[in-house]
Amino acid sequence: MNKTEVKNRIQKLRLEIARLREEYHVKNTPNITDEVYDSLTRELKSLLKEYPKFMDINAPENRVAGKILEKFKKVKHQIRMLSLNDVFNQEELYDWEKRIKKLLPGNQKLNYFCEVKFDGLAVSLIYEKGKFVRGATRGDGFVGEDITQNLKMIKSIPLSLHTPHPDYIEVRGEALMSKKTLKELNKKNESEGKTLFANTRNAAAGSLRQLDSNLAKERNLDFYAYDIADISSGVVLKNHSDKHNFLKKLGFNVDQHDAICENLEEVISFIKKFEKIRPNFPYGTDGIVISVDDLNLQETLGVVGKAPRFMSAFKYPAERATTIVKDIKINVGRTGVVTPLALFEPTLVAGSTVSKATLHNMDQIERLDLRIGDTVVIEKAGDVIPKVVEVLPKLRTGKEKKFKMPEFCPACGSKIEKRGDLVASFCPNKKCGAKNERYLEHFVHVFEIYELGPKILQRFKDEGLITDASDIFILNKEDIAPLERFGEKSAENIIREIEEKKKIPLSRFLWALGILHVGEETARDLATNFGTLEKLEKATLEEINEIENIGPKVSESVYNFFRDKNHLAFIEKLKNNGVKIEKAEKQQMGKFFGLTFVLTGTLSTMSRELAKEKIIKMGGKVSGSVSTKTSFLVAGEEAGSKLKNAEKLGVKILSEEDFLKMI
Ligand code: IVH
Repeated sequence: MNKTEVKNRIQKLRLEIARLREEYHVKNTPNITDEVYDSLTRELKSLLKEYPKFMDINAPENRVAGKILEKFKKVKHQIRMLSLNDVFNQEELYDWEKRIKKLLPGNQKLNYFCEVKFDGLAVSLIYEKGKFVRGATRGDGFVGEDITQNLKMIKSIPLSLHTPHPDYIEVRGEALMSKKTLKELNKKNESEGKTLFANTRNAAAGSLRQLDSNLAKERNLDFYAYDIADISSGVVLKNHSDKHNFLKKLGFNVDQHDAICENLEEVISFIKKFEKIRPNFPYGTDGIVISVDDLNLQETLGVVGKAPRFMSAFKYPAERATTIVKDIKINVGRTGVVTPLALFEPTLVAGSTVSKATLHNMDQIERLDLRIGDTVVIEKAGDVIPKVVEVLPKLRTGKEKKFKMPEFCPACGSKIEKRGDLVASFCPNKKCGAKNERYLEHFVHVFEIYELGPKILQRFKDEGLITDASDIFILNKEDIAPLERFGEKSAENIIREIEEKKKIPLSRFLWALGILHVGEETARDLATNFGTLEKLEKATLEEINEIENIGPKVSESVYNFFRDKNHLAFIEKLKNNGVKIEKAEKQQMGKFFGLTFVLTGTLSTMSRELAKEKIIKMGGKVSGSVSTKTSFLVAGEEAGSKLKNAEKLGVKILSEEDFLKMI
């Protein structure tokens, strides 16, 4: 484009963006996807970056507040910020109770604490000697962002705690924007032509992620405390409900809609009661959090994966809407899975516009008997991905078209395959363009190279600057600057960011490799267990399979990945191109490392299953029978032949009390 063409394009983009905004905000009839709007805005921004002389202070894009996300300091949480497992109906609630009761001895009576599940932004607040010293976002649960300055702007976050207060306390809670404030803010934003927030959660998060804390102040946020993650010794708290009372005494807002329930029937009536209050509740909520009230039992039940076993989130039913399926498109994912994607007439559900949803596979399409042109019911709960739940065949006109899975990959033309007993279809071509594109996007996402969005990656591929992800690290300014729409400045930004991101922790590196079945969590488990990439590369299938949380399907995939010469060559290339993999702190070997336990008889404080889990967590092994290799036999009530055997072999015998002391 020459300069006049650029100027015209900028003008046209401005007009079109303004029109879309009006359609969305004022007429409330969005007939175009958010992506289109975003993409036009991105193009405008990038043109203005390159041709700053066409900037116009009064142009609409300059009234939208900018956000600079990457600049907050990262903070490591002393105690991991967990998430919650969801239950969606009474049956799942009873199943949860059954599961946890099985892990506890006898038929324990459990008291539950019920409270509102706020829909905002989870934050951690640290107080030393009663003073607020640091506040952070959840991040990935291990590392969050330091947003202390912004949190200080929230009036309901006490800067000093009421006395008597503990020397040290870490409070967890939710930063929120009330529905009323959101309405006012959106009204103001609308009149100023700014973007509207889809819901209170986005508004709270958006306000706290602004670098200018004055903005957070203007946004009038609130904070509700719901947990104490850590506290200096001296304060005795026996129940989750005591934590709430203690937080209240320290000066925190604690929601009043809570109750101690003696059984699940009472929990269910609490859920039903709040469901009536919910529409008029001042804040956005998406369910009820139910906790085992007794903190000792909480400790016994512990955590599995990302979530505590002693808590459950009951989610209120998702919102539904109807729309028309305009088309079904094929998507090729980074692992080669070919998935059909339904494209809809954009429709508003649960606070946001939905224009597409995955249909997963052909089986799903057949189960729904879904045809192109059908009217369908879509469902969405809060931030959950929308899905098609039902087709309305009565609304058919006869013009609907059946969908057939293509025989060949739409991106590379290879014959699509089905693997084993999996319902999914795959593109087997290792060099498939679409697969590689998705992989590149995944790779830069994990490496946190924000400058390289999908379009730029595609452009670099088209220009021959990169053929695989490792080429990213040998790009230089001179390659990028001459490209149309880039220039010196943006080339510099890209190169600077790539340089900064060359160093990567092992867990993220493993995640970035895109090993089938290895997501963020599994990558972290692999990293902490093996410590270095070299050790993992050399590990046997059995060694990988032994890791807690890793099953045979995953271990096989990991093992096979490192047996493929192409993968090893790719890793070498990454290293040669400057990627530095930081060693992971190997998980503490654990007190029980190298010890084998046998459990027998009935334990009075926990089930055998739970005792086994605790031993494994501490690095030990549990065996079913006593032998000379057994280090300890834990003998509960009515221990039988195993006890006799242990005595014969001279194996050390532990009473339940001894065992509890050890753990
Ligand atoms: S308890 C174990 N209580 O829900 C972590 N969480 O889905 C949960 N949330 O990240 C802590 N209201 O941001 C708890 N009353 C409440 C809550 C609550 C909202 C959020 C929290 C957490 C998310 C998990």
